[in-house]
Amino acid sequence: MKSGTKDYSEYFDFSNAKVLSEDENGTTIRLHGREIRIKSQPDYRAGKRRGKDSIAVHHEFSIPDDMRAFGEGKRYYVQTYGCQMNEHDSETIKGLLEQMGYVGTEDRTEADIILLNTCAIRENAEDRVFGELGHLKMLKTERPGLMIGVCGCMSQEEGVVNRILRKHAFVDMIFGTHNVHRLPHLIREAVFGRELVVEVWSKEGDIIENLPKKREGMRAWVNIMYGCDKFCTYCIVPYTRGKERSRRPEDVIAEVRELARQGFKEITLLGQNVNAYGKDFEDIEYRFGDLMDDMSKIDVPRIRFMTSHPRDFDDHLIEVLGRGGNLAEHIHLPVQSGSSAVLKKMGRKYTRENYLELVAKIRREVPDAAFTTDIIVGFPGETDEQFEETLSLVREVGYDAAYTFIYSPREGTPAAAMADDIPMEVKKKRLAQLNALIAEQGRRSNEALLGRVLEVLVEGPSRTNGSVLAGRTRGSKLVHFEGGPELIGTFVQVEITEAKSWHLAGSLAKTPVAAD
Ligand code: 5AD
Ligand code: SF4
Repeated sequence: MKSGTKDYSEYFDFSNAKVLSEDENGTTIRLHGREIRIKSQPDYRAGKRRGKDSIAVHHEFSIPDDMRAFGEGKRYYVQTYGCQMNEHDSETIKGLLEQMGYVGTEDRTEADIILLNTCAIRENAEDRVFGELGHLKMLKTERPGLMIGVCGCMSQEEGVVNRILRKHAFVDMIFGTHNVHRLPHLIREAVFGRELVVEVWSKEGDIIENLPKKREGMRAWVNIMYGCDKFCTYCIVPYTRGKERSRRPEDVIAEVRELARQGFKEITLLGQNVNAYGKDFEDIEYRFGDLMDDMSKIDVPRIRFMTSHPRDFDDHLIEVLGRGGNLAEHIHLPVQSGSSAVLKKMGRKYTRENYLELVAKIRREVPDAAFTTDIIVGFPGETDEQFEETLSLVREVGYDAAYTFIYSPREGTPAAAMADDIPMEVKKKRLAQLNALIAEQGRRSNEALLGRVLEVLVEGPSRTNGSVLAGRTRGSKLVHFEGGPELIGTFVQVEITEAKSWHLAGSLAKTPVAAD
């Protein structure tokens, strides 16, 4: 079957499908009694190509006139899986829906539109989404008018779109990470065309500025760049998120200034690889260190960033971070493995020694820096000795916390072609051993803070006890203490009296310091 120049038969078994029409608007087929309009769909080969074509920035965005009131009287529910980048995309999705008149609900059973913003990083993230689709099928049977959409990283995977079309054809829309801004158009097509609409762009499009965002609380996240060009051999992100594109500094600065004006207390700059920021600019020499320097001049109490890659952590950035001020001294620096041989197979492009030297260099300039990391256990061929090297690196760095994962092969990545030869029970044992070490280190680094008075940004009631407040230190440590709800959103000084593995506890040291 063909649409335009692309032969889809490679990805889809459409032996049961009847092609109804083919035109410039896509191919319409009938499959299992449902009409499906495939406008465009994922293609890894196209997605992997890193062309030189420059990325245009569009500052004009508006909801089409006929869709402005489309959501009036209707409710939406957005379920987000995965990383902060997805959370942030969901803020845009919610912002778009609200501009169309929809109102949010926490109760799926009363929603008129449900969107699953999915994550593809590991298989278990995908299993959760397919499980959820099973539940939604029942809801859709009870309420046929309910619209269901799947978006985010899973939609960018060739195999996933195929599986949804074959097994979950009750879904109304599938769209990807590059065309979130097209949501109003896709809703229109799905509703009025009564078809399942698939629009997933393989290639990243241009950067669209000024999309609406529904932000809540006193902390805000700001995307500074999109995509990833690192192609670590295990990782699906360069395929699902496209090539690295940095937003223009003036656009980022304007957004952060506006958030400061609105009273946000903490801003986190986001990117798969934030410190590759600016490498794609052809007309200016302006990198992540320059951006952080400009951030330090904006009147926001705390600026953070996520996630940095060891290879792009340059001296200028370290020097700027060393000046402190509103730049919080928390550095999330994924190491993935402590073995240079495994790092090489992972395509990380640094050695254990390079990484340790970098940590030492950062510590010299930013003495209070708190380090956190990501680690994968059970990568193909990882020996006991190589895993021991990871444990010893963790001891040497003394991380405050770490996200740890069992290796999960991702179809289409180079590592998926390597034998996944570490038995699951060995992987689980390594993970448990690593987690125990990290918990012990977390407790020890927390114990070092006993008796200290720390500045805490109060986020809200603690998850476990509604009468206890929770907040974070500059180093991103979680602190519990007793206090009234009027403190939420303010900075307070807390004297630390108790140290656990994953949080600190204390009591208010003095009257709250207003943040602004
Ligand atoms: N298997 C396990 N963990 C992975 N990560 C990325 N890809 C995989 C995979 N295939 C982890 C890395 C990354 C984090 C976001 O997820 O540690 O830093
Ligand atoms: Fe994935 Fe590596 Fe890019 Fe991180 S740097 S998103 S692990 S490819």
